[in-house]
Amino acid sequence: MMKAVVINRYGGNEVIDIRDVPLPSPGPKDVLIKVHAASVNPVDWKIRSGMTKILTGRTFPKILGSECAGEVAETGAEVTCFRGGEHVIGFPGIRRLSAFAEYVVVSQHNAFARPQTLTFEQASAMPVAGVTALQALRDLGHIKEGKKVLINGASGGVGHFAVQIAKVFNVHVTAVCSSPNADFVRNLGADRVIRYDIEDFTKEEKQYDIIFDAVTKRTFDECRRTLTERGIYVNTLPVFSVLLNQFFLGFFTRQKAASVMVRPNAADMNWMRTQIEKDKIRIVIDRIYPLEEIREAFAYSETGKARGKIILKVL
Ligand SMILES: NC(=O)c1ccc[n+]([C@@H]2O[C@H](COP(=O)([O-])OP(=O)(O)OC[C@H]3O[C@@H](n4cnc5c(N)ncnc54)[C@H](OP(=O)(O)O)[C@@H]3O)[C@@H](O)[C@H]2O)c1
Repeated sequence: MMKAVVINRYGGNEVIDIRDVPLPSPGPKDVLIKVHAASVNPVDWKIRSGMTKILTGRTFPKILGSECAGEVAETGAEVTCFRGGEHVIGFPGIRRLSAFAEYVVVSQHNAFARPQTLTFEQASAMPVAGVTALQALRDLGHIKEGKKVLINGASGGVGHFAVQIAKVFNVHVTAVCSSPNADFVRNLGADRVIRYDIEDFTKEEKQYDIIFDAVTKRTFDECRRTLTERGIYVNTLPVFSVLLNQFFLGFFTRQKAASVMVRPNAADMNWMRTQIEKDKIRIVIDRIYPLEEIREAFAYSETGKARGKIILKVL
């Protein structure tokens, strides 16, 4: 048996049960990971509350948790790329979940070697927040040297990766956050900081080639004035105005809008690992909670004030 964070229905933190469940066993192409740490993302409490039930369905019980880091405890018969004891990052994803537990099974394609310079706590945050920021800026924003980039929500889980990833591409970064986080985002490498409690970037005269709204607080329409003629707005939730631009209004304007939907993969995790090993990206942890305090971790995440990442310590 193993300890896990289980829900039997959707709802608030009261639906969470921390209890013993049977140990999962890996299929032929799977890896069983002994979890040391798991990262908490807003999607985890959105799943708990039922906001994503179209994707996560109505089958219970569910063990929550979409990403973790730990060591390989067992491999399926057809797994060739990992051995017992290896330190890995696991991404079961939001359909399969189960990372908030002492052991988790992931497909071998969703297990990635842990960068040696990172702790398990830091490494567990790479697939969701890290790869979201990379795929948003590179694949949707078409980031290139010389572009002007604005990142809204620059101090959060996704945003703090985005500032550093944008700097890897040698662009001018304007970071938007509240006043108490101004020094934090400057230290991440932001060239300019806009404090949203004092200034509204959508009212500026300056224009940006890419606006990445990591927290999806400003709409495409609000941002259009501050986008260049061929500027691209990227957010993290597929909201109506973005879909409208992609499927209809996009024919009438050169400005584009897109929503990222993260798909962690070996190539992008390797890219991240290279930058981390070159000290170009560091993973900042705001708070670490023991697994038993998942309710407290969710309550803090739901304030929307995390600076960097929230982590669960499992081992
Ligand atoms: N589509 C995908 O694949 C995908 C992947 C990952 C995440 N997401 C989504 O992306 C969003 C952000 O995720 P996250 O992990 O970065 O969340 P997070 O870590 O909880 O974000 C917290 C940050 O949001 C900032 N913030 C709050 N209100 C703000 C505002 N009005 N303007 C600017 N910044 C504000 C806060 O900064 P201040 O304290 O300075 O206000 C705080 O640092 C979530 O909705 C999440 O579900 C989507």
